[in-house]
Amino acid sequence: MRDWSVMGRGGGSARSRADVRAVPAELQVRLRVNGVLRELWLDPRVTLLDALRERLGLTGTKKGCDQGACGACTVLADGRRVLSCLTLAVTCEGRDITTIEGLGEEDGLHPVQRAFIACDAFQCGFCTPGQIMSAVALLAEGRAGSDAEIREFMSGNICRCGAYPNIVAAIRAVAGELGRAAV
Ligand code: FES
Ligand code: FES
Repeated sequence: MRDWSVMGRGGGSARSRADVRAVPAELQVRLRVNGVLRELWLDPRVTLLDALRERLGLTGTKKGCDQGACGACTVLADGRRVLSCLTLAVTCEGRDITTIEGLGEEDGLHPVQRAFIACDAFQCGFCTPGQIMSAVALLAEGRAGSDAEIREFMSGNICRCGAYPNIVAAIRAVAGELGRAAV
């Protein structure tokens, strides 16, 4: 139960003010980014997006709206897609982060990257890293059963160039390849 006795008039108290002062300016954060352990000292308010772009130089992840509305900043955290603009870096302590830079394999591009090129699934390319990261997760989630399902589960990724039909075609092509490989 909350100890109301420490609350002063107006909601403040000596203890809560001391707690605020005790918050350190920077915290140590260990992230495994694209398979490499990275240790950073960060202001607790720094987003994962800014840590990746400004501190680690991984500018493939894009900042579109910076408020969770466009999907341009999508990365994978322990294999699940997250909006890095809405994720505080300190909450990712010990997690595996994959960005577009870490997606390719030793012998070349990831199948989803190849399919985006083959299907001409981008115009300006600004949304493309987020689209590809989201598509990789969608395929792993088994959500590419139909064009409608792909559209629904890609709906958090906005493309101002309107490349949606080709994005769906690219994902459908990879889903088909995966299906054939599984037979
Ligand atoms: Fe994160 Fe738009 S930049 S959702
Ligand atoms: Fe330009 Fe999607 S390709 S915003």
